[in-house]
Amino acid sequence: MNTLPGAVLDAVAAARRPETTDAQWATFTARVDRHVGRLGRLLEEVYGPGEATTHELALLAGQLAASWQERPADLRELDDAREADPTWFTSQRMLGGVLYVDRYAGDLAGVRRQIPYFQELGLTYLHLMPLFEAPQENSDGGYAVSSYRDVDPSVGTMTELADLANELRAHGIVLVVDLVFNHTSDEHAWARAARAGDPEHEAFYRIFPDRTMPDAYERTAREIFPDDHPGSFVPIPTPDGRAQRWVWATFHSFQWDLNYANPAVFRAMAAEMLFLANQGVDILRMDAVAFIWKELGTACESLPQAHLLLQAFNAVCRIAAPAVLFKSEAIVHPDEVIEYIGVDECQLSYDPLQMALIWSSLASRDGRLLQQALERRHALPPGTAWVGYVRSHDDIGWTFADEDAAELGIDAAAHRRFLNQFYVDRFPGSFARGVPFQDNPRTGDCRIAGTTASLAGLEAGDAGAVDRIVLAHAIVLSTGGMPLLYLGDEVGQLNDYGALDEPGHGEDTRWVGRPRYPAAAYGQRDDPSTDAGRIFGRLQHLVRVRRRTPELAGNALITFDTYNPHLVAYQRPGPDTLVLVIANVADDPQHVDATTLSGLPASAEDLLAGDVVTLRGGITVPAHGVLWLRVSTRDEGGPRE
Ligand code: GLC
Repeated sequence: MNTLPGAVLDAVAAARRPETTDAQWATFTARVDRHVGRLGRLLEEVYGPGEATTHELALLAGQLAASWQERPADLRELDDAREADPTWFTSQRMLGGVLYVDRYAGDLAGVRRQIPYFQELGLTYLHLMPLFEAPQENSDGGYAVSSYRDVDPSVGTMTELADLANELRAHGIVLVVDLVFNHTSDEHAWARAARAGDPEHEAFYRIFPDRTMPDAYERTAREIFPDDHPGSFVPIPTPDGRAQRWVWATFHSFQWDLNYANPAVFRAMAAEMLFLANQGVDILRMDAVAFIWKELGTACESLPQAHLLLQAFNAVCRIAAPAVLFKSEAIVHPDEVIEYIGVDECQLSYDPLQMALIWSSLASRDGRLLQQALERRHALPPGTAWVGYVRSHDDIGWTFADEDAAELGIDAAAHRRFLNQFYVDRFPGSFARGVPFQDNPRTGDCRIAGTTASLAGLEAGDAGAVDRIVLAHAIVLSTGGMPLLYLGDEVGQLNDYGALDEPGHGEDTRWVGRPRYPAAAYGQRDDPSTDAGRIFGRLQHLVRVRRRTPELAGNALITFDTYNPHLVAYQRPGPDTLVLVIANVADDPQHVDATTLSGLPASAEDLLAGDVVTLRGGITVPAHGVLWLRVSTRDEGGPRE
């Protein structure tokens, strides 16, 4: 849209409330002027030009004006501050933690009581796993939302969540929650209305009267949760005896995909999003972004319209809640993951490739795939950041590119088979105790679930376990962006096999990796004679050193070739110095010879050991060890290419 239609401007003007001052209104309308043209163009690209789309934009614009005027004053101040400092989240002081409110803290009051601990750990970012109203059992850990405006009553209220956001902010911690916008629970009011036959809400979902279209779509769409149901569709139970209909459900049968081909769905979800933004949520984790658009004859993943819609949601925030950022959850091929990242789309993204390749390196004792990924797939557009993580609440999928592996002489399919066997302890000598997730004998696909400690060998009693846990985190803490800890992992929590017996968890083996608050391990965190104490102490040391190492901010990274496949090495440049990270994924010490280091100054500051080391005799990295070495570049002409 090059010139804004009068209807849109009229809708904005009509939404002005008497209490809004001229100065406030000017702030808002300046943002409208800056971003609404883009929003209009995006909607036209998705929904086509014409009066219907203009009408949608006008309705949306009025909604944005209303929402902005309802935005609390302190959040509007935050909007201004973040607009003035748009890369605030890329500092090396940022550190994330993620937890399930009920499992970790009981309820929101319990989360509040943990704030002193979050500060002890150095958290500046707290992701509360989905905590909105969801069916008791069929909730997929909260990813089947029945109401985006109500907190699950067993953990608290929306007012408590807003208060918590305030309190966290006062302690320097931003609040992250999920926007599960690809689907709703089949108990959401929209789904109930659709089931009851209300045509407006039937059009919110992809419902078909028979198998003709479902069969056609399923010819090319991937099966995501084959343990739950084959294909992408499930029958809608019909208590009234009407002919059976089929609804799109990518994940569980009780998670119905929304129909974004209907612009009313976009507008409805934008309203839910802004409601959450106005509660004080700082970052929205955009769940399952790859799946939001479907097109016959395609894989129905990562289609161009998925990006346009995310950009449109982004524009909505720029106008009505500019403090809010998006984190993309695209656990797909690395070529696709990167497509979601941009200041106009998602400013943050999980880094599933790095996560998977850390585990790949530890199993194979070969760091080349990880090194190659850092070399060619780590760069990001300006103003964006990776969220690095060792593991999440989900499974580990081996998402590396087959062609990358082939270049290193690694057969991708065979390597994935090896990793799946290794991580479920079906490989001789494996240290790992993971469990298979969505094991699909038909396609040979499988993913792995488990806690960091169990996957790294602590459960099996492997002597290298603690070092491996520290090593994995030391990589994530030094490659840039926002590292995210799965809380409990920092004290070495093990798999919880009993979680599978809890109601609603059924066959979903991911619950093994989502233990409850490990009180005993936390109680030992200051005792270095325990595993929990050793892990916690060393991770805390890494976090503290990172905070005072500005080279580790941002995303600039240049790999460093050690000519040793067991070593992953990279340089993080600062203005007059660089930090060279060398990580050893092998079970024995590895040496980098003096010639390889000859381009660097004669000595380096060993940031983790707190002393100075000479590089002229080469350097030895202990088994599963990691070095963070700072060298001066003032006279040496900058980082090595
Ligand atoms: C995301 C979540 C996962 C959930 C799925 C469906 O992938 O991380 O836990 O099952 O979306 O919402």
